[in-house]
Amino acid sequence: MSVAESYRPEAAEASVLLGGASHDLPIRRGTLGPDVIDIATLYQDTGHFTYDPGFTSTASCESKITFIDGDKGVLLYRGYPIDQLAERGEFMETCYLLLYGELPSREQYQDFRKLIVMHTMVHEQMARFYTSFRRDAHPMAVMVGVVGALSAFYHDSLDIHDPEQRKMASVRMIAKMPTIAAMAYKYSIGQPFIYPKNDLGYSANFLNMCFAVPCEEYKVDPVLARAMDRIFILHADHEQNASTSTVRLAGSSGANPFACISAGIACLWGPAHGGANEAALTMLQEIGSVDRIPEYIKRAKDRNDPFRLMGFGHRVYKNYDPRARIMQKTCHEVLDAVGHGNDPILQVALELERIALNDDYFIEKKLYPNIDFYSGITLKALGFPTDMFTVLFAIARTVGWIAQWKEMIEDPLQRIGRPRQLYTGATERSYMPIEAR
Ligand code: CMC
Repeated sequence: MSVAESYRPEAAEASVLLGGASHDLPIRRGTLGPDVIDIATLYQDTGHFTYDPGFTSTASCESKITFIDGDKGVLLYRGYPIDQLAERGEFMETCYLLLYGELPSREQYQDFRKLIVMHTMVHEQMARFYTSFRRDAHPMAVMVGVVGALSAFYHDSLDIHDPEQRKMASVRMIAKMPTIAAMAYKYSIGQPFIYPKNDLGYSANFLNMCFAVPCEEYKVDPVLARAMDRIFILHADHEQNASTSTVRLAGSSGANPFACISAGIACLWGPAHGGANEAALTMLQEIGSVDRIPEYIKRAKDRNDPFRLMGFGHRVYKNYDPRARIMQKTCHEVLDAVGHGNDPILQVALELERIALNDDYFIEKKLYPNIDFYSGITLKALGFPTDMFTVLFAIARTVGWIAQWKEMIEDPLQRIGRPRQLYTGATERSYMPIEAR
């Protein structure tokens, strides 16, 4: 099959030559990024599917939410560069922006914040739900279960065809996710749950629910609350990544929003996705000192060694991940605030990055640090154990998942997602009774 593109600005189309016959395919143009060849009628017209495992060349949907230019290292939420939002804005503003498309006015911001804080508590019976998990359960396992179970508690926000119920489900998930995550953490360490405090900001409240205990006064350090907020902004959305695509696919069948977000959390858990920050920190700790770096660089370059430099490389970014720069800065701020400015693991990370960025293997393959390279060190300094790292990612990404789910549900052309396949299994054969096999 050859695709000969005959691009014209107004009536652009590509042609596919199949068995001597040419089939025209429209080319669609976005506001930014590569044009796409629209193959929606290809099967109907030619009887052929396309094959693209891992979706490396396939746009699965049309979206107005987030844009990434991986070659230039650009990430925009609704058109706003991530560094501007992270350095000058707040997570609540980012939530509003992702959900509604514009930054809120002061009044809209206050109304939105009020709506969120009214829903920070979870149904009291949910606390009992937690006690059925083993104490040593991974908090992501607890998150998948508890978030999925929200649909068993909030029956009045399950109708995806009712805009008001969709809104309530969205607000509930953004508001309750920190509470659910903090409860998972408290349960794992055997401490009592701490109720949300609605006079605190979103991130300060989360830190309070994680680190306060009922027997003494706990004051959230504003530097750490700001860092947490920034980390949430950096992770809030990332266009059609694996977990977001999972949420969209689950939602395309009409599944309720809580079930869809639970599916997203399950996908995020994987080490090639949200689990990489945990893996990056483990790797840095294993390296331990600057003099051992060359040994690990050598292993990362060895084709016969499955070891990879965790926190390096990205499917989309073939340049420095713009989130990694802000995360590196945030990492320094947090380490200074907690008095670990000379953390040896940070020294290993800085030196590893310097060596890798000057090494031909990493240069040729365009492997740069991604957001996870510095996030593990930062989250550890904030006081979180490694198995909570992906949970924090899930809190932040919830708004992105919801915005993408909402965009899909509100699209009048939305249909159930149903990929096709290239079948290479057995051809038809007859059943044999067991005694004849
Ligand atoms: N260390 C060493 N070599 C690497 C690395 C790495 N971290 N990443 C990619 N490569 C090599 C890989 O071996 C391959 O080499 P070759 O062409 O010789 O076979 C080449 O670079 C291309 O790699 P790929 O696996 O085909 O690329 P991909 O787009 O499928 O994978 C990735 C992207 C992020 C899964 C991969 O770079 C990786 O495993 N990185 C480490 C894990 C990690 O940090 N993941 C976090 C991703 S960012 C968080 C998020 O957005 O969810």
